[in-house]
Amino acid sequence: MESAFPSIGILGGGQLGKMMAAEAVRMSVSPKLLSPKDAGPMRPYAEAQVGDWTDPDVLRPFVADCDVVTVESEWAPAEAAADVLPDDAALWPSPATLSLIKDKGVQKQHLADAGCPVPSFVRCPTADAALEAADTLGYPVVLKQYRGAYDGYGNATVDSPDALREAWPGLAAEDGLLVEAFANFDRELAVQVARRPGGEQVVYPVVYTEQRNHRCHAVEVPAAIDDAVAARARRVAQKAVEAVEGVGLIAVELFEMPDGEILVNELAPRPHNTGHYSIEGCYTSQFENHVRAILDWPLGSPALHQPVAVMVNVLGRREGTPPRTAGLSRALDVEGAAVHVYGKPDVRPGRKMGHVTALGERRANVRKRAEMAASAIEL
Ligand SMILES: Nc1ncnc2c1ncn2[C@@H]1O[C@H](COP(=O)(O)OP(=O)(O)OP(=O)(O)O)[C@@H](O)[C@H]1O
Ligand SMILES: [Mg+2]
Repeated sequence: MESAFPSIGILGGGQLGKMMAAEAVRMSVSPKLLSPKDAGPMRPYAEAQVGDWTDPDVLRPFVADCDVVTVESEWAPAEAAADVLPDDAALWPSPATLSLIKDKGVQKQHLADAGCPVPSFVRCPTADAALEAADTLGYPVVLKQYRGAYDGYGNATVDSPDALREAWPGLAAEDGLLVEAFANFDRELAVQVARRPGGEQVVYPVVYTEQRNHRCHAVEVPAAIDDAVAARARRVAQKAVEAVEGVGLIAVELFEMPDGEILVNELAPRPHNTGHYSIEGCYTSQFENHVRAILDWPLGSPALHQPVAVMVNVLGRREGTPPRTAGLSRALDVEGAAVHVYGKPDVRPGRKMGHVTALGERRANVRKRAEMAASAIEL
């Protein structure tokens, strides 16, 4: 049925899909979500379905009435969706962009070839090749799985040939691993870029991302860094996004080196945990600009409307089913704390279950309020 309002199909039903869909709804863009498993976050939406998303007979009816199809993750079956896409519909980011990103080896090589600064790396098919590469790069080195890794699960930092030999069999796929020089960075930064199909783009402020146990714990915006370093980070991020011809919201993870140099760690071709602060913090959130960009609509301002925003993740603390609202009322009591609970039906220690954002004038105070609210929520 023809509708006055566009429809977007989201491949994925986790928190990123949920938050994209929420922004779409606000502009009367109808979201549909398809997930291979019964994902809790998508459940509030009427048009959320569970199905084998690699099956053309599932994908075809799903995309049939979509104006645009998008993905919540680089591993969603974009090629399969492209094969059954109606002629007048679009798919962003393009399968070509996704295939440059979803394999970390391909991605690093492509960024390096495009002249983007990245840590030194070698793609190693065997443990012997990795030992040789580590010898050249110098220990420690970071071993990275090419595909399917997230939240640091597919990485290992090794500081000797013995440690490398030991880590190899548990991590390596048939085509081996990416071996990277360890970057002795001062800080981890990230920059979100929203880009329309024609290339028009907006760049978000540089964020400082604080990792704990290889996972993002908190994000502070703007990062308390030199103006020149911030300008460089934004330039490098834009260059990386252009190198993969990204469309939609693309997040660029960066390392700030002691000499002020900026290295690209990796790209995420979608809204990203380090951009969640933008929902309350910016005039236009990363999710809204993602929806606008894939529809080829004018982009909104990415500027902060208060001097500081801090986001703190709410991680799972137990195994099993999350308790209903443990600590929620205490979190909601914290002044100005925006509480997001993703609705995942099961919890694991360290799993991302929600986040809190606080805004204000003074960094330390904003940070304190965000931490207080996030730690009150016991899931
Ligand atoms: N070359 C490196 N030198 C030093 N630290 C690194 C390097 N590569 C990765 N790290 C550290 O490991 C973390 C996770 O690495 P990476 O981003 O490659 O993994 P991931 O599993 O894709 O993570 P995520 O899902 O959190 O983005 C980085 O945020 C950084 O803290
Ligand atoms: Mg990463």
